Amino acid sequence: MKSLSDVAYQIDGQPMFKILDLAQKLEREGKKILHFELGEPDFDTPSNIVSAACDALKSGDTHYTSSMGLYDFREVAQKATLHSRGFLPTIEQVLVAPGANSIIYLAIKCLVNPDEEVIVPDPGFPTYYSAIKACGAKAVTVKLKEENQFRLDPNDLENAITSKTRLIILNTPSNPTGSVMLPDEIRQVAEIARKHDIYLLSDEIYGRLIFNNEKSFLSPSYIDHCKERTIILNGFSKAFAMTGWRLGVAIGPEEVIEKMGLLVSTIVSCVPPFIQRAGIEAISGDQSALVKMKNEYDNRRKILVDGLNTIDGISCIEPDGAIYAFPNISGTGMTSDEFANFALEKAGVALLPGNNFGEAGEGFVRICYVNTSDNIKKAIENIKKALKDR
Ligand SMILES: Cc1ncc(COP(=O)(O)O)c(C=O)c1O
Repeated sequence: MKSLSDVAYQIDGQPMFKILDLAQKLEREGKKILHFELGEPDFDTPSNIVSAACDALKSGDTHYTSSMGLYDFREVAQKATLHSRGFLPTIEQVLVAPGANSIIYLAIKCLVNPDEEVIVPDPGFPTYYSAIKACGAKAVTVKLKEENQFRLDPNDLENAITSKTRLIILNTPSNPTGSVMLPDEIRQVAEIARKHDIYLLSDEIYGRLIFNNEKSFLSPSYIDHCKERTIILNGFSKAFAMTGWRLGVAIGPEEVIEKMGLLVSTIVSCVPPFIQRAGIEAISGDQSALVKMKNEYDNRRKILVDGLNTIDGISCIEPDGAIYAFPNISGTGMTSDEFANFALEKAGVALLPGNNFGEAGEGFVRICYVNTSDNIKKAIENIKKALKDR
């Protein structure tokens, strides 16, 4: 048999779908499963956003459009950046992309040569690792420590820099830990990137999902207004419950964004215009559904964390943002994989082993609170009982 390209053997994809496959197999066998494994909001996309897409479809907005995105969308993104981050990027600094996930690959491909290094948080979002590997580059990890509430320590980051470092990936609020860095720490990271002349990809997809009122959102882009080294990655999947729409936006230096746009045009041509019209409504239309969803997440977060901390062998730091809790399960005597399998098979609870997010995730699991409060309570009781019965 013919072999594939060398690169093809370096493509890992996203590991979280493995547990989903296993959970669905058990469901087909008649077992009841409570789902907490995917970062998939259980809310429907707000109706005003759906209507905007339907109206666009009906009015014939069904053709190719610029690979960089609709001018209207980019203008709305410009204004939103001014409002939320305090600076007005040029239109040429804004790129519309098919989902935030794709922006990770686009940025790495346009900025990092094979064998150069990208600094990533560990535990961190798996696409960082797979995109770096698929580009032939090397991931250099910086451990997020539980004793530091999983916030990235800027000193650890600076110690990881070598002459080969091209890019730093920052993600706050974080997937999978839910940690939110302090503004001063973010300032330090921005300064480090400037001092060492390194690009900074700031994954801000959970920027609107911060629950602790004492923690305010800060983007490291405040320092260069995305003109020199910072690329903001943002998406609609989480805060607007739009995972299936595949819509993301990047803001960065014009010369970087131009190349990323050429890559979008090479791979997908453009993001469908009716999807972008929905995005315009999401950004500039009625925000009340968003507030409602956020309040509900906050509620569930408390129920989940309080519940987890009543289970022997489990302890959970309160996450300040995103939609995840990252409890330490090492007190149960199980590894992350063992605990995830045990929870699925003995308690009917699907969650993800922490090591799916990097080596430092061993000893933890990720639970996504995208299920009802009642189901969260049920899951806690099921796990408690299964642990007692073992
Ligand atoms: C940190 C982080 N970045 C990016 C993404 C990608 O989101 P999208 O659905 O827009 O591709 C996710 C999705 O889970 C995420 O958790």
